[in-house]
Amino acid sequence: MTESPPKRDVKNHILFECSTEAAVEVEALTPTHPPLAETISSMESRGIDMVYGRWLIEGAPRVLLIDTKTGYRFLDEWKGDLWSTAGIPVPPGDEETNEAVVFGYLVAWFLGEYVAHEKGRAVVAHFHEWLAGVALPLTKKRRIDVTTIFTTHATLLGRYLCAGSVDFYNNLQYFDVDAEAGKRGIYHRYCIERAAAHAADVFTTVSHITAFESEHLLKRKPDGVLPNGLNVVKFSAMHEFQNLHQQSKEKINDFVRGHFYGQNDFEPENTLYFFTAGRYEYRNKGVDMFIESLARLNHRMKSAGSKMTVVAFIIMPAQTSSLTVEALKGQAVIKSLRDTVTHIERAVGKRLFERSLAWHEGDNLPDEKDLVSSADRVMLRRRLFAMKRLSLPPIVTHNMANDSDDPILNQIRRVQLFNHPSDRVKIVFHPEFLSSANPVLPMDYDEFVRGTHLGVFSSYYEPWGYTPAECTVMGVPSITTNLSGFGCYMEELIENASDYGIYIVDRRMKGVDDSVNQLTDFMYEFTTKSRRQRINQRNRVERLSDLLDWKRMGMEYVKARQLALRRAYPSSFENDIDLETFFDGTETKISRPLSALGSPRDRSGMMTPGDFASLQEGREGLSTEDYIAWKLPEEEDPDDYP
Ligand code: UDP
Ligand code: G6P
Repeated sequence: MTESPPKRDVKNHILFECSTEAAVEVEALTPTHPPLAETISSMESRGIDMVYGRWLIEGAPRVLLIDTKTGYRFLDEWKGDLWSTAGIPVPPGDEETNEAVVFGYLVAWFLGEYVAHEKGRAVVAHFHEWLAGVALPLTKKRRIDVTTIFTTHATLLGRYLCAGSVDFYNNLQYFDVDAEAGKRGIYHRYCIERAAAHAADVFTTVSHITAFESEHLLKRKPDGVLPNGLNVVKFSAMHEFQNLHQQSKEKINDFVRGHFYGQNDFEPENTLYFFTAGRYEYRNKGVDMFIESLARLNHRMKSAGSKMTVVAFIIMPAQTSSLTVEALKGQAVIKSLRDTVTHIERAVGKRLFERSLAWHEGDNLPDEKDLVSSADRVMLRRRLFAMKRLSLPPIVTHNMANDSDDPILNQIRRVQLFNHPSDRVKIVFHPEFLSSANPVLPMDYDEFVRGTHLGVFSSYYEPWGYTPAECTVMGVPSITTNLSGFGCYMEELIENASDYGIYIVDRRMKGVDDSVNQLTDFMYEFTTKSRRQRINQRNRVERLSDLLDWKRMGMEYVKARQLALRRAYPSSFENDIDLETFFDGTETKISRPLSALGSPRDRSGMMTPGDFASLQEGREGLSTEDYIAWKLPEEEDPDDYP
């Protein structure tokens, strides 16, 4: 790259995060920083609408929203320019790519003007995903005096290839990338992603597995990994999250009572809630493996005479027309029963009170038979008859647009998990994201997660995997795989992850059948735990949440910016302290919990190459541990929990 003179102040730099995500709630502000105000007013004078303000989310970051509609009049000109300057073709009719082009040109325009007005401070521009990536080759070609970072959260081609039936990880280095992208009609999008990765001063991904994939599919080895964090909410009372589990579980119990009305012959006390959730990507999200393992689990639990019941939820949005009448009826029937019982309860209480008032010494105690009136009995009988059901409790809560072609439903049919009373594993497929406004399962997603016992995310393609991470910070154990960014990260970080309630299925070295068996074993072993063991395990899981907090994860972003500045302005760093000292990394792994017997970890056959650079100039080629640098706070023995 072309080196700029070290005239800009790198310590006091300005950062722009460029993303295409629309902020809905922004409080408009007048920019006071002169270069920003001048740039905005210059672009506005050329007809580009912008809103500068405070995004009303935690941390209240300042945002600049650019109305891409106002740039569309330049679309054809910009498409032509993209072809002539970067060799990227944009075919007609691809609205999403048009949007990416307009956004990219507006961002490059903005940055060009901004650095013309801001002469003192260095500027770092951080771009996420291919949709925001068009500006990267442009800033490079135009030699705009900014330093850039590109973070890809997945690769386009990886997602497409994995969704088909390709042995992805064993063939990564052999794919003819251009031909594969062409076959799938995404060649132009792929070109944007690849150009962005190559034009950026610093290229990063969200996990080692995606770094590995990017190196082969985008043909640039990432400079480091910026894992995804979460805003961890800590409760002041230690066991508050355990109480929340109980409260949320009660709400799921209510749903289950309605859904399984008439065949509610399993005890809430002996029922475990498992779930998987996310975008409907049948193979990528490992739903295929989950359902197959549930069938084997059912068989195993039946053979073992288990007294437990597992209700497994699949929360994945599909095309639906409405909630089914049966799903609505289930909740209504139970609500009527509850109303009737409450009414009878009150009437019985009132009668008992009155009879007690009229009691005289020598009288018998009020007879309980007289306490329930015949009208009450009739009403109760009607409610009980309404609960009679000839069919089995339904699998799916909604009317599906493509019931007979739906891959999830078809696999459930194949493995015959039909919610039969003798089944120890029941399935509920909720083909819509959760919401407290839903009349059947009125819970928001995080509330639902808290109420469950185990999240299962047996993904084949999962660059990071927020779902198991979210389970962890809520103290819910989860199963993930060593093909997910989160799974690899936890495997690297914790010696015996399963002791901490993070079960990692090996989908890398094992054949499919063995992986399914391993998943079944994990789930079966979980069903044999006592309540006390589950409570202890939740405590251990929750203790991991600090590892996933942005407060720690964000440090990698700081390192990436430092590296970008170093690369663009090396002379400003000549006498600077070494970054390694600056970040004071420790390289300690988390040992197994005191209460658990651990076995030494077999580190052979690690799937992550572990040789990616460490976001530190001059330290490329070091192992994964070089940028995983934190340890757990001191722990007390989890078995001490009262
Ligand atoms: N999610 C949600 N509502 C639901 C189910 C899931 O908002 O009912 C969210 C969940 O909180 C998670 C996201 O969907 O943050 C899925 O992210 P993940 O990283 O697991 O998968 P990706 O979509 O990135 O492939
Ligand atoms: C939490 C609550 C306990 C409850 C337990 C149920 O720990 O604080 O009061 O007994 O959850 O756990 P379980 O795994 O059976 O849902």
